[in-house]
Amino acid sequence: MTTTDFGSAALSTPRSVLIDGIGMLVTNDPELGEGLLGAIDDAALAVEDGRVAWVGPRSRVPSTDARIDAAGRCVIPGFVDSHSHIVFAGDRSQEFGARMSGRPYTAGGIRATVAATRAAADTELLGTATRLLRECNAQGTTTLEIKSGYGLSVAEEERALRVAARLTDETTFLGAHIVPPEYADDPGGYVDLVTGPMLEACAPHARWIDVFCERGAFDEEASRRVLTAGQRHGLLARVHGNQLEAGPGVRLAVSVGAASVDHCTHLSPEDVAALAESVRDGEGTVATLLPGVDFSTRQPYPDARALLDAGAVVALASDCNPGSCFTSSIAFCIALAVREMRMTPEEALWAATAGGARALRRTDVGHLAPGARADITLLNAPNHVYLAYRAGVPQTAAVWKNGALVAGRP
Ligand code: NIG
Ligand code: FE
Repeated sequence: MTTTDFGSAALSTPRSVLIDGIGMLVTNDPELGEGLLGAIDDAALAVEDGRVAWVGPRSRVPSTDARIDAAGRCVIPGFVDSHSHIVFAGDRSQEFGARMSGRPYTAGGIRATVAATRAAADTELLGTATRLLRECNAQGTTTLEIKSGYGLSVAEEERALRVAARLTDETTFLGAHIVPPEYADDPGGYVDLVTGPMLEACAPHARWIDVFCERGAFDEEASRRVLTAGQRHGLLARVHGNQLEAGPGVRLAVSVGAASVDHCTHLSPEDVAALAESVRDGEGTVATLLPGVDFSTRQPYPDARALLDAGAVVALASDCNPGSCFTSSIAFCIALAVREMRMTPEEALWAATAGGARALRRTDVGHLAPGARADITLLNAPNHVYLAYRAGVPQTAAVWKNGALVAGRP
C-alpha cells in the first residue's frame, strides 16, 4: 500500500483507495454504526471503481492500492439536493431588498426571470447553471435535481431541460410554474399546452414532472391534470405545495403518489398525518423542507418537529433560484433547520443526505454503505455538529463524486 499525495485527484485511479484516519464517519446506515447516522468513530472507508467497497473501524482496514489520511476529520455522504432551479438568467436582488423592507413574496416575481431567461443565449444559460453546479459541488453537494420552469413555452421549456440534462440525471419538467403573460386571459389554454405539446417535447429530457400548486399559480384541479398527464408519459411526480398558505398541495401530492412535496411551510394537522401515513406502508411522499426560502421570503419556518414526531420522512434542500432563495449552501439550510426548526444536528444531516435520496427515489446515494456510489465529503471539522455550530463558515475540505475529486483537496 502506498500513501497518495494530497493532490491525488481520484479515488478510482489507482483502483482502490482507503480514506484512513477518519475521526467520525457518517454512513447513514444504523446497522453499520451508532444511531440514526450509523456513525463510526476512528474509521476508514475503502473505495473501488467509484463505489464504496468497505467501511469500518481503523483496526480492521483492508489492503488497498493507495491511502489518503483524513487526519481525524469527519466524513459524510455527499449532500443530495433534491430541489433547484438553476437554469435561468437575470437578477432579482432588488426584489429581495424590497422584501426585507416589508414587501411580501408573491409567485408573480417569477415572470421577471421568465423574461430574462427567454432573452438569454443557450451559452449564457449553460454557463450560469454550470457555475452554480460547481458552487454546489464545492459546498458538498454531489447530487442536484434541476428544474425547468423559467421558459414557459414549448421551445423554451425544452431548451431549459436540454441544459439541465447536460448537468444532471435528475431533471424536472416544471412548465406549470406559473401562467405566462401571453396566457393571462386563458389559463386553461396554458394547462392544455403544458399537458399536450409541451409535455411531448419535454418528457424525453426529464425524469420528473412538477407543478406549483398555490394561489397565484395552479389550483388543485389544474395541478392534478398536469401531474397525471406527466405520469402517463412515464414521468414521476413531485409538487411545490403549501408554500404561501395551507393549500391543497400536500393532499394532492399524497393522492397521486408523488415522491415529494416541497416547501410545506404551512401545514394543517391533516397534512402532517397524511404525509406520515403515506410512508408507513411504502415509499410514500417525502416532506422536503426548504428553509432557505422561508429565510429569504421572511416567512415562518415549517413545523419540522410535527412532521418528524408524526413519523413523516423529511428532506432538506436548497431550492436555489434567483427569486425566493438564492443560496446553494446546504450547510446553511442545515444550520437553519437546527436553529430555527428544532431538528437535531443528526436529523438535519440525515434529511440533507438520505432524506434527499428518498425524495428522489434513489438508493445509490445519500449513504456510505458498501455498494453505494462513492459520493463523499471530507469536512474540515471533527464531527457533523460543526455544520450548524460554525454556521456561515465553509467547512468542506474535499468532495468526491463517483470516486472522482470534484472540489477541494484532501
Ligand atoms: O420554489 N415556488 C415556486 N417556485 C420557486 C420560486 C421561483 C421564483 O421566485 O423565481 C420556489 O420557491
Ligand atoms: Fe422551487
